[in-house]
Amino acid sequence: MHVILYTGKGGVGKTTVSAATALRAAELGYKTIVLSTDPAHSLSDAFAVQIGGEAQKLRNDLYGQEIDVRKEITENWGKIESYVKVLLESQGLDELMAEELATLPGMDELFSLLKLLEFKKTNNYDVVVIDCAPTASTIRLLSFPEIFQWYMDKFFNIGRKIAKIVRPAAEKLTRIPFPKDEVYGSIEQLYTRMIKIKELLMDNNVTTIRLVINPEKMVISESQRAYTYLNMFGFTVDALIVNKVYPQEIDNSYLSNWLEIQDKHMKHIARVFHGTPIFKSILYDREMVGMPALSKFAEALFGKDDPAKCFSQESPVRINKKGDNFTLMIKLPGVKKEEIGLLTSGDELIIKVQNFQRNLTLPRALQTRKIKEATTEGSWLKVIFV
Ligand SMILES: Nc1ncnc2c1ncn2[C@@H]1O[C@H](COP(=O)(O)OP(=O)(O)O)[C@@H](O)[C@H]1O
Ligand SMILES: [Mg+2]
Repeated sequence: MHVILYTGKGGVGKTTVSAATALRAAELGYKTIVLSTDPAHSLSDAFAVQIGGEAQKLRNDLYGQEIDVRKEITENWGKIESYVKVLLESQGLDELMAEELATLPGMDELFSLLKLLEFKKTNNYDVVVIDCAPTASTIRLLSFPEIFQWYMDKFFNIGRKIAKIVRPAAEKLTRIPFPKDEVYGSIEQLYTRMIKIKELLMDNNVTTIRLVINPEKMVISESQRAYTYLNMFGFTVDALIVNKVYPQEIDNSYLSNWLEIQDKHMKHIARVFHGTPIFKSILYDREMVGMPALSKFAEALFGKDDPAKCFSQESPVRINKKGDNFTLMIKLPGVKKEEIGLLTSGDELIIKVQNFQRNLTLPRALQTRKIKEATTEGSWLKVIFV
C-alpha cells in the first residue's frame, strides 16, 4: 500500500491534483482510493459526482470517500469526550461550553487518518491518495501522533497508577471526577492507534507527501517552511507539484509581465527544492472538473511517470557510524544554524525551529553519548555524538 498525501496552501489545486493522481493510478491498474481530511470536502466537486461517507466506486479500480468525521470522533474519542465534559462541568463550565471544548481543534482530521489503519489491515488498496487540508493544519496533524505519544508517556502511564490508588479519596477531596477504567481503556486504545499511525506515516516505504504549489511568492515561502518542518518530523516529501503555470505560448500583453514573474519564481523553486522531483502543470483555460478533464490533467502532469510510485525515498533522518562516533543527520532545508535550537533530555533530542519542536527519541546507542558538535552541511543538520 502506498499512501500519498497532498498538501499546500488553499486554492493551489490540492483537490484537483489528488483526484487526478488517483484517477491516473486507477487507469494504470492500481486499486486506488482517494479521500479527503479537509473538512471542506470537495472531491465531489472535482469528480462532479456526489461522493458519500462510505467508499464508493467511481470507475474500475477507483474509489472515493468523504469521511464522516463525526462518526470517527464518536468511535475514537466518544468515551474520553464524555469524561472531559463531566470534568469541565465539575469545574463550573456550562454544558454548552464543555461540549465545545471536549473535542480538540484539528481532531477531525486526525481521526480521518486513522482510517488508514483499517486499509492497512484489510490490504484492500494498492494506492491511497489523501487530499489534506491546507499546509499548516497538515503539519500540526502529522506531528500530533508524536506529541500525543510523548504526552501520554509522560502523563498517563503515571496517572493511571496513581488514579487507581487514590481515586476514592481524591474524588472526595478535590471534587474532581477521576476517569473510570473504561476511559483509560479508550485512551490506551487511541494511544496504540496513534503509535501505529505514526509508524505508518513515517515509513517511507508506505507514505510519501507531495507539496502542491503555484509559482507565486507567498505560496512558495509557505511551502518552503512546510518542506523544512516535514523533513524535521521525519516525513518523506517525494515530489513537488507546481500547478497553474502560465503556458509559454500565451500571446497577451496583459499577461506578459506575469510570464516573467512566474519564470523568475520557477528558477527560485528549482533552487529551493533542489533534489526533490518537480512536476508542472499549466493553468488551463477552464476549471479541471470531471473525469475526462482530470485524466487529461494527470497525463500532462505526470507524462510517462507512474504517480503511484514513490518518486524519491531519501529518508530525512539518518544515522551514520564512523569509528566509535555516531553522526545523526536531519534534513532541514533552508534553515540557518542560528535558527536551530538543540537540547538533550534523557533519551530525547529536542530540536526547535521557530515555533515547531520535535522530540526525537534517540536510538539506544546515542542515548549514552554526548553531543560533540552540531553543524549544518547543505540542507542537513549534522549532530556528532561521541
Ligand atoms: N491547472 C489548473 N488549470 C485550471 N484550473 C485549475 C487548475 N488547477 C486547479 N484548478 C481549479 O482551481 C480551483 C481550485 O482548485 P482545488 O483543487 O479545489 O484547490 P485546493 O484543493 O488546493 O483548494 C478549482 O476550481 C480547480 O478546478
Ligand atoms: Mg481542496
